[in-house]
Amino acid sequence: MRYEVDFLVVGSGIAGLSFALKVAPYGHVVILTKGAADEGSTRYAQGGIAAVMYDSDSFDKHIHDTLVAGDGICNREVVEMTIREAPDRIRELVQYGVDFDLDGQRDRFDLHREGGHSEFRILHHKDNTGEEIERALLEAARRHPNIEIKERQFAIDIITQHHLGQRVTKHTPGIECYGVYALDCDTNRIDTYLARITLLATGGMGNVYSTTTTPILSTGDGVAMVHRARGVLADLEFTQFHPTSLYNPAERPAFLITEAMRGAGAVLKDRDGHEFMQKYDPRLSLAPRDIVARAIDNEMKLSGKDYLYLDARGIGKKHLIEGFPTIYAKCLSIGIDITRDMIPIRPAMHYQCGGIKVDRNGESSIRNLYAAGECSCTGLHGGNRLASNSLLEAVVYAHNAAQHALSTYQQIAFTTHRQVPDWNADGMVLNEEMVLITQTKKELQEIMWNYVGIVRSDLRLQRAFDRLNLIFRETEDLYNRSVLTEPLSELRNLIACAYLIIKMARARRQNVGLHYSLDLV
Ligand code: FAD
Ligand code: SIN
Repeated sequence: MRYEVDFLVVGSGIAGLSFALKVAPYGHVVILTKGAADEGSTRYAQGGIAAVMYDSDSFDKHIHDTLVAGDGICNREVVEMTIREAPDRIRELVQYGVDFDLDGQRDRFDLHREGGHSEFRILHHKDNTGEEIERALLEAARRHPNIEIKERQFAIDIITQHHLGQRVTKHTPGIECYGVYALDCDTNRIDTYLARITLLATGGMGNVYSTTTTPILSTGDGVAMVHRARGVLADLEFTQFHPTSLYNPAERPAFLITEAMRGAGAVLKDRDGHEFMQKYDPRLSLAPRDIVARAIDNEMKLSGKDYLYLDARGIGKKHLIEGFPTIYAKCLSIGIDITRDMIPIRPAMHYQCGGIKVDRNGESSIRNLYAAGECSCTGLHGGNRLASNSLLEAVVYAHNAAQHALSTYQQIAFTTHRQVPDWNADGMVLNEEMVLITQTKKELQEIMWNYVGIVRSDLRLQRAFDRLNLIFRETEDLYNRSVLTEPLSELRNLIACAYLIIKMARARRQNVGLHYSLDLV
């Protein structure tokens, strides 16, 4: 099937939905989403969204905290713009129906604090903020007559001049996006979506690693698509590991224990029940994430243990049960009463700071292609993202991208688009055994966890690169012979992301933010 739409959005998390709602009054919007519409990292966000809402805090402090967490390599202009825009975007979320918790007097937002923040400035809905945001945005999008949400539609590749038979390299000037090819996961048909404007909002790539807090659909599809289309990517060496995921080895994704718990007074302890963060940073358990995750990793390696503890008992039973109901119930379901027991934790891949390089308007290096949310790289996070700045970045850049797209979309005609051929699946008949795909994915995830994790070295990166090469060749061979399926596409995308992470990690010859190599100490 062939479709022509004004605005094509790939992804139905906070970034995709926010953009869709803003452009919908001006044209037909199609949102493609590979799972159920509400599935993605957004709905699992716990802590909340950072913004300066009252005079007790200041933009300057939030800017300073973001720059410090980013370890000196954030884009300062982007940081200033994002943080100053935050209150307007928060008010819009409230208008869409997001129910942020209010304080005791119910006349102000109740604010939490997380690692790296010098003030209480995290707006939240109990400990399931993301679920609340996703609910409100999705309901608003479903109500809008111009928005069509198509579930189980897997975007495979963005369409450029390459699909018109032209040679496209990363040096080709004026690469243009005409839309995407997408696999209908129910019929296995590959459709052609032609669009004036395309926005990638495909989220993160946590599944490159064996332990991650991100849902199984976070496979870096948007980044891999732009890589194949020869677009510009940046900062992928900055993979963020959250210090405290619940240690429950059989569970994937790993369940998160929000940093807001440390903001409320929980402390990290070793297996003997002793605090250890004083050895690493004067901010103790509330130091920025890169420092805390490295400290935990080091303590685990020194002791040979595969988890440590978060002790939340000091927070008090009432506050724990009322303020963190999701975590309380989850832990209880596996026999841990957090009001009485310490919580076993270990770090897990959580967020990708790098991605599709975009300018202040959310525009990528490819014309008419925008990116927002976790798949993008705006310059806000630098070497390490400050907690709760991700949801914020997503709404700010969805807004900016929408404003910019609205100023250009009417000049984009479908003339060239209509020359785009349909996907050619000739000669591909083999349906390979699933075990080849699942086993390769596991191998990849283990390689990345062991060699390209929290602590790296030249030798580890070289090993990872060599092993990845073999996996890459085997998988491309499979791809060239097989009918295209979602698992195969995801595997190719994960391999592309792993390759990019390793390549950028090898090129970064200085320890900064989340990139830490023993050879650069
Ligand atoms: P997502 O919400 O991940 O959505 C991606 C969408 O893209 C999905 O709809 C998916 O189906 C779709 N998609 C992907 N690939 C394709 C494809 N090929 N074809 C079609 N559709 C596709 N950040 C904060 O700021 N505060 C927090 O408190 C916080 N807590 C977090 C807790 C957890 C457990 C996790 C995992 C992350 C947390 N983060 C938090 C990070 C934040 O939630 C994410 O960065 C953010 O939600 C990403 O939003 P997004 O719209 O970019 O992507
Ligand atoms: C958390 O709640 O600890 C996650 C916050 C974030 O990822 O920004």
